[in-house]
Amino acid sequence: MHEEEWLDVARLITVSTNDWYRSHGMNEIFSGPPEDQMLFCEVYEALDPGCCLVAEDMETGDIAGSCFYHPRSTHVSLGIMNVHPDHFGKGVAGRLLDWIIDYAETLNLPLRLVSSALNLDSFSLYSRRGFVPQRAFQDLLITIPAKGFPEAELSGGFIRDAIAEDAETIAALEQELLGIDRTKDYRYFIENKPGCWHVAVLESDDGELQGAVVSIIDPGSKMLGPGFAREPDQLGALITHELNQRRGETLVLLLPVDCPELAHRMYALGARNCELHFSQVRGEMPPSTCAYLPTFMPETG
Ligand SMILES: CC(C)(COP(=O)(O)OP(=O)(O)OC[C@H]1O[C@@H](n2cnc3c(N)ncnc32)[C@H](O)[C@@H]1OP(=O)(O)O)[C@@H](O)C(=O)NCCC(=O)NCCS
Repeated sequence: MHEEEWLDVARLITVSTNDWYRSHGMNEIFSGPPEDQMLFCEVYEALDPGCCLVAEDMETGDIAGSCFYHPRSTHVSLGIMNVHPDHFGKGVAGRLLDWIIDYAETLNLPLRLVSSALNLDSFSLYSRRGFVPQRAFQDLLITIPAKGFPEAELSGGFIRDAIAEDAETIAALEQELLGIDRTKDYRYFIENKPGCWHVAVLESDDGELQGAVVSIIDPGSKMLGPGFAREPDQLGALITHELNQRRGETLVLLLPVDCPELAHRMYALGARNCELHFSQVRGEMPPSTCAYLPTFMPETG
């Protein structure tokens, strides 16, 4: 993808996603103008310049498909993948994916993503090429009232805004708990040049970081995540705290389905299920038992 194609890719992401969901009897995902989805190009190009493939229609010159990928020291991530509805079912996504699989294999790294459990077209695409679902997540939509939610009780620790010096510590803890390195992502979130990010961390009274959660509020994405903590209770407290930074907004978060206590906390705050996703890995998946929130941007699974 070249920079002059960002708007075309934003349009493709919008029409491809909305068309797929609408034609399968579900609500459109992107309600605003296609320009809102420029966010994907802005964020991904800021983090990983040049890491977006496009497929071009040789007859019209139009962009028929696009896919971003994000190399890290422990893995390569893939997302967001889109094909124009006029080109569905012609093997465009398969060709884009094969390129990225070759790239990850050359680096000898596992490939990770988050895919919709309601979308058999994408499930088959990945499953045929050796991706294996690792964990299931429920997407919850939640509106934060103007007065916010009551903060969870925390013993032996406190939550505060992240500062630049936290990026390496957050990344090291995530690598310990989840086996993935995303140092540059955390630096980027905390630096917050575009102004749409916020990061909170939970620190124990003896000064040890226990978890972190990120949120984004932008017309192109309103979401909580990535996020993780040593204990589910700590993640629950971080989630409530971070939601309170976004009062008056409606946003989505992905909770592991095997953490019912967190889901029930969210239901008690009025959250509603709106989708299901799988984290999928092609290659080795480091064991991860802790509660965490994956995200669509930057996607990792
Ligand atoms: C999902 C999406 C990217 C697929 O793109 P596409 O170009 O139509 O996909 P392809 O034509 O390359 O087909 C993918 C593969 O799935 C296979 N497939 C499709 N439906 C299948 C089914 N029900 N069972 C088994 N295999 C199936 C195809 O045969 C093909 O396999 P092959 O590459 O080995 O021949 C496209 O539908 C899209 O953009 N959807 C909207 C956005 C989206 O959902 N993105 C993914 C986010 S997780």
